[in-house]
Amino acid sequence: MLVVKNLTKSFNSAGGEVHALKDVNMTINTGEFASIIGKSGSGKSTLLSMLGALDVPTSGSIQVDDIDIAKLSAAKQTAYRAKKIGFVFQHYNLIPNLTALENVMLALEFGGMPASKRKARAQELLTEVGLDEDEQLRKPTRLSGGQQQRVSIARALANKPAIVLADEPTGNLDSETGKKIFDLLHSLTRSENVTIIAVTHDMDIAGKTDRTFRLKDGQIVIEK
Ligand SMILES: Nc1ncnc2c1ncn2[C@@H]1O[C@H](COP(=O)(O)OP(=O)(O)OP(=O)(O)O)[C@@H](O)[C@H]1O
Ligand SMILES: [Mg+2]
Repeated sequence: MLVVKNLTKSFNSAGGEVHALKDVNMTINTGEFASIIGKSGSGKSTLLSMLGALDVPTSGSIQVDDIDIAKLSAAKQTAYRAKKIGFVFQHYNLIPNLTALENVMLALEFGGMPASKRKARAQELLTEVGLDEDEQLRKPTRLSGGQQQRVSIARALANKPAIVLADEPTGNLDSETGKKIFDLLHSLTRSENVTIIAVTHDMDIAGKTDRTFRLKDGQIVIEK
């Protein structure tokens, strides 16, 4: 279970302090698919980076299965990210000079899998997300946006994370491809009981998730 309590995040900028998150409270159960919606600048990406321990909150707590990740040392936060979290980004963030297969194998290497097992596991993951043998051997520029996002989903799931955090994973895709990507995330996480938290602008997609949270000026409103 993920329990966020009284979470605030402020940034100092030239124009003064920016209160990106103000007293956010939310609980997400293990295995739930939650969506986060809200206008540009409302704090969605800031919230995801706190949940993924990419940045530290100004105050408040983030309990993941009873561990407060906001209070971990930097080294433990790195370990938490590597072991527990899978990230999917709008711009895929694949390594351009590696093939799809090599991108996933690299994630497995970071996760500590022995070299002898990486290739077979990467092939299995990529097949699961719908890439054929030929596509698996291509570099990202020779894949469509939807295929690149499938690779990044395979990479995010490589080390069997407990939580997948996705920041507008369909933001660069047409709506039909976007829906397919969401359905894929849904089915893969459902079968493994992975919690998924995805930022989206697409209300059709948000409507299909278990829970929806709306952020407005750094504050959360539960929609369902
Ligand atoms: N590193 C930073 N330094 C200063 N201000 C920041 C920083 N990161 C975010 N902000 C500010 O915090 C607020 C929330 O930003 P955030 O990126 O979380 O919004 P968002 O909801 O993800 O928007 P978008 O839909 O455009 O991606 C904005 O006012 C933004 O300018
Ligand atoms: Mg954002």
